[in-house]
Amino acid sequence: MGLAIEAVNLTKVFGIFKAVNNVTLKVEEGVIFGLLGPNGAGKTTTIRMILGLLKPTSGYVKVFGIDVTRERKRALNLVGYMPQQFSLYEDLTVEENLRLYASLYGINGLEAEKRIRELLDELMLAEYRKRPAGKLSGGTRQRLALAAAVVNRPRLLVVDEPTAGVDPPLRRYFWEKFRKLRDEGVTVLVTTHYMDEAENCDKIALMSRGSVAAEGSPLEIKRLAYGGDLLELEIVGNPQPIVEEFGFKVLSSETRGGVEKVTLLVPDASLVLASLTRALERSGVKVVRAYPVPVSLEDAFIRLTASSYSLKR
Ligand SMILES: Nc1ncnc2c1ncn2[C@@H]1O[C@H](COP(=O)(O)OP(=O)(O)O)[C@@H](O)[C@H]1O
Ligand SMILES: [Mg+2]
Repeated sequence: MGLAIEAVNLTKVFGIFKAVNNVTLKVEEGVIFGLLGPNGAGKTTTIRMILGLLKPTSGYVKVFGIDVTRERKRALNLVGYMPQQFSLYEDLTVEENLRLYASLYGINGLEAEKRIRELLDELMLAEYRKRPAGKLSGGTRQRLALAAAVVNRPRLLVVDEPTAGVDPPLRRYFWEKFRKLRDEGVTVLVTTHYMDEAENCDKIALMSRGSVAAEGSPLEIKRLAYGGDLLELEIVGNPQPIVEEFGFKVLSSETRGGVEKVTLLVPDASLVLASLTRALERSGVKVVRAYPVPVSLEDAFIRLTASSYSLKR
């Protein structure tokens, strides 16, 4: 698999303010890649540089191997972009908006009509086809914006905060859509400041104050935040010798009603759960329950950005 995006050492300075600081992102083809971080982290600025809409102060970007500053037109033909504030023509109808966006990509005539019909169908817009964009509800507008962004069947779809201010059913619908596009081979780069949505991504880069604070799959990010997986044991007896033998760290332990609840930090919960339980039982410790502790990405992010703040100080 090749790289859909290769952004290397991107920096953007506005005046004396460094909005993006030495960001490197390598996005493999065919994944949903989430750029996450709070407002002001530098997500939109990074995206605009990736799309060749903003010239980096330093660094470079290639999209499918094409340098976006040198060959912007060629690169943009492979890309669909749904900006944070999508500009639709308010007094053109849904259909006319799509026709206009199609023509911008050189799709006209019968080919355009066919593609528009497909999109009206796919994004549940058929009943609104004759309605001016300015008269649509928020959710319908967002669906039209997405339809316009994929009118050219992009190999890379870039969506900037598509779910900001959107109600939960439509948020879910959008993520399903992104997954479907991904399964069809489209690479999706999506930004969001909703941490819980990140679970939908194959890979995540967490941005904080212009830099990438952490990168990896949701599971890897969680491991990075804690230095491993969390495993909880409910036991009767002394686990200390076995836990030491395995070299695991005890994060907490409390005893209630004769049962001790121990939280351990382990490298990979699914790999060690069975062998640890067996070893404990063999040493005479009764294991009432043993289970991996689900960690939320939000917790992980808070830990990771908190430590990156303290590193900077
Ligand atoms: N054109 C600009 N001129 C000056 N500052 C900007 C400009 N664009 C963005 N910024 C600043 O850069 C920082 C990052 O902005 P942005 O990339 O929009 O963050 P995000 O999309 O993560 O919310 C913010 O502090 C913002 O105010
Ligand atoms: Mg933004």
